Amino acid sequence: MEIEFVAAGAAVPPKTVLARVVFEGQTQDGPLAQAVAASRFTGAKGQTLDIIAPQGVDAPRLVLVGAGKADDFDAIGAEHAAASAYAAVKTCGLEAIRVELPTGDVDLAARAALGLRLASYRFDKYRTKEPAEKKPTVSRAQVVAADPDAALNAFAPLSALADGVTFTRDLVSEPANILHPVEFARRVKELERLGLEVEILGEAEMMKLGMGSLLGVGQGSIRESQLVVIKWMGAEDKSAQPIAFVGKGVCFDTGGISIKPADGMEDMKWDMGGAGAVSGLMHVLAGRKAKVNAIGILGLVENMPDGNAQRPGDVVTSMSGQTIEVINTDAEGRLVLADAVWYCQDRFKPKFMVDLATLTGAIIISLGNDYAGLFSNNDELSANLLEASGKEGEPLWRMPLPPQYDKNIDSMIADVKNTGGRPGGSITAALFIQRFVNGLPWAHLDIASTAWKKPSTVPTLPEGATGYGVRLLNRMVQEKYEG
Ligand code: BES
Ligand code: MN
Ligand code: ZN
Repeated sequence: MEIEFVAAGAAVPPKTVLARVVFEGQTQDGPLAQAVAASRFTGAKGQTLDIIAPQGVDAPRLVLVGAGKADDFDAIGAEHAAASAYAAVKTCGLEAIRVELPTGDVDLAARAALGLRLASYRFDKYRTKEPAEKKPTVSRAQVVAADPDAALNAFAPLSALADGVTFTRDLVSEPANILHPVEFARRVKELERLGLEVEILGEAEMMKLGMGSLLGVGQGSIRESQLVVIKWMGAEDKSAQPIAFVGKGVCFDTGGISIKPADGMEDMKWDMGGAGAVSGLMHVLAGRKAKVNAIGILGLVENMPDGNAQRPGDVVTSMSGQTIEVINTDAEGRLVLADAVWYCQDRFKPKFMVDLATLTGAIIISLGNDYAGLFSNNDELSANLLEASGKEGEPLWRMPLPPQYDKNIDSMIADVKNTGGRPGGSITAALFIQRFVNGLPWAHLDIASTAWKKPSTVPTLPEGATGYGVRLLNRMVQEKYEG
């Protein structure tokens, strides 16, 4: 989606839909008032009223978009209104949309543009026969702002954000026959064009480092496991202590020998959503030249059943030296993170470390499909994450890490086991990761609930990969850790 900002009076180009965002109860005049009277449009949030050849309007089509109560209208409201407008007319045959917000506010105009970028995302590279009438036709947008140049400036970092979210969504949407660990690493390596530094460690290097936990997961796959290190050294002081993000990148999770049922197993192509989000975040930081030193670590594996696959009951030795009894080969994400998290803190000694992982089905049972789970040993880091979550509209809920549950992952024959039973399954998974955290401020985001949406419930999240996590982490970095 191409975006431009224009002044209120600018002539409307041909083949453009006018999207007028209005508040609840706001009255229209003349022919528009008649159209509203003939419909059930009230201006409530998310409502749209599509009017063809509106009288007295200098455009072939107009869509009224409800923004709810004027007093509640905020940045997210502007995003959602623009996104709803786009969704209502995207296949209407016209080529452009002009969004008019109820105010000329420059920041709100920039957020409306972000809404358009996010709502117009589509993963259609494998469609060869889509009927023309189903293809979106609207590919350009204008957003009206009191000061178009200032709006364009305000949009620059948000455009970088949209690029990062798009990168994540593309990774998460790719099927696993295409996006295996080596291909994932290759795509991230390409981000060096943005100024990132990318190192890729293969199995031989990980073996030398003693990453028996991560390697055990990939052992049944013909694809080579990879550990990717992404560096963005944007702070003035390049030797300043970095912040760090670690992602679970299980490119496909069959469950391994503890194999999953066939129903819905195709969803496990997005079991690399954590690594996808970390990649997208690093993309954003580089794209907007963030003044921060940040490290992204991706643990990339494929979890397959095979003659060489690890078995339930196997004991592996992690890089930390701790031994792990693998009770269930389907609890593989925590095995990957155990080594990735250890490597991260051991090598980079970060200020804090946030890991993202599609870790447990149990988090969906706990929180439903909108909230991700937050687990942390640190109240300040948690507060920062929750604050950013609210501002970016990526819901997050803090969960407990009760010490008394920790004994549930004690093993009879090793230091720890990789499952703690069904009760509190997301909590014992987090407690497992915590055993590999060396006292530094750490947070774990279980995004199994939010990495993918079907069907879409938010206008800026089309059905499919959401890119969850990129926005909230970018916001937290920007507001708390740059400068
Ligand atoms: N990748 C899954 C978690 C998952 C489930 C993500 C559903 C998205 C949707 C993870 O590797 C897994 O299989 N977890 C098991 C853990 C269990 C074996 C202790 C689970 O949640 O059932
Ligand atoms: Mn699994
Ligand atoms: Zn998994």
